[in-house]
Amino acid sequence: MTIHASTPPKLIDQFGRQVDYIRLSITDRCDFRCQYCMSEDMTFLPRDEVLSLEECARIVRAFVQLGVTKVRITGGEPLVRKNALWLFEEVGQLEGLEELVLTTNGSQLVKNASALKHAGVKRINISLDSLNAERFKQITRIGNLEQVLDGLQAAIAVGFDGIKLNTVLMRGINDDEAEDLVSFAIQHNIDISFIEEMPLGDVSHIRDSTFVSNSDTLKRLQSKHSLIASTHTSGGPARYWQVANTATKIGFISPHSHNFCESCNRVRISCKGELFLCLGQDDKVELMPLLREHPDDDTPLKEAILNSMNIKPKGHDFDLKRATPAVVRFMSHTGG
Ligand code: 5AD
Ligand code: SF4
Repeated sequence: MTIHASTPPKLIDQFGRQVDYIRLSITDRCDFRCQYCMSEDMTFLPRDEVLSLEECARIVRAFVQLGVTKVRITGGEPLVRKNALWLFEEVGQLEGLEELVLTTNGSQLVKNASALKHAGVKRINISLDSLNAERFKQITRIGNLEQVLDGLQAAIAVGFDGIKLNTVLMRGINDDEAEDLVSFAIQHNIDISFIEEMPLGDVSHIRDSTFVSNSDTLKRLQSKHSLIASTHTSGGPARYWQVANTATKIGFISPHSHNFCESCNRVRISCKGELFLCLGQDDKVELMPLLREHPDDDTPLKEAILNSMNIKPKGHDFDLKRATPAVVRFMSHTGG
């Protein structure tokens, strides 16, 4: 038996929560402009203010050495970043990493699905808010539904451990599609999560008037399907239900309830290298200067990450009725 001189370090915050999951946004850019996510005339960051892919890899490696076992690559749309695959390949090889996962809008999956699987991506979340081409275009402003459905088919053909649709329902826009989207997920043996819209970034649409609560969606779906509460949890704000006699789980991501913050196991890193300790609060640590000032030494980076555990907030502070969003940054900046 091998006896280790010291136990490997872990990231534990002041409330005793262990952080073992990071979400890294590798670009704020996207080929869509979803109404709830972006304004029509988004300005994106100049390239030198965004982490290089090498810097992204360095950050992920430091976190994995500090006990992180799950990494989600997100954006913006991660697959519009040039050479994004290189990063997946690097991260996929890290010792100690158990799960590499991706959030994407699906637009680039036809050409990338197979390479992502080979790089070690285990599961993919694909955003899909409508099955109607015209409506899909209205919601995403420029997206093409067919391209996304082809991407989804490519991912299904490659055979990931899990594929999940992410849907944001908006009253009067696509809230009548909840049942159809669930039927679609059942047909394809994949999962679906409904995400309540969060007040992130000023997107010039009135969120309070389009807000759809997950408890209403659950009631509607229960009148059509037999749903069995699942014990499955990812440590986040999602609650899952199994659709009886199918392979499909339905998740409800309800950020407006507080009951998940106490088991929060995650932090986020923006494409600028800001380490955000909570999606709904501004507390952060700037990692980019540590990377650029110490190109050959990860000690300052790791110390900053360890110290950040002292400022991880107890919970978020979302309120849709507020005139200005609680958090001014966009989801595409922090990473969804
Ligand atoms: N509120 C809720 N979900 C959002 N997303 C982007 N912006 C918001 C927001 N303001 C979703 C996208 C994607 C996931 C990463 O986050 O639809 O599925
Ligand atoms: Fe792009 Fe996703 Fe934001 Fe839509 S929600 S604009 S797909 S980053």
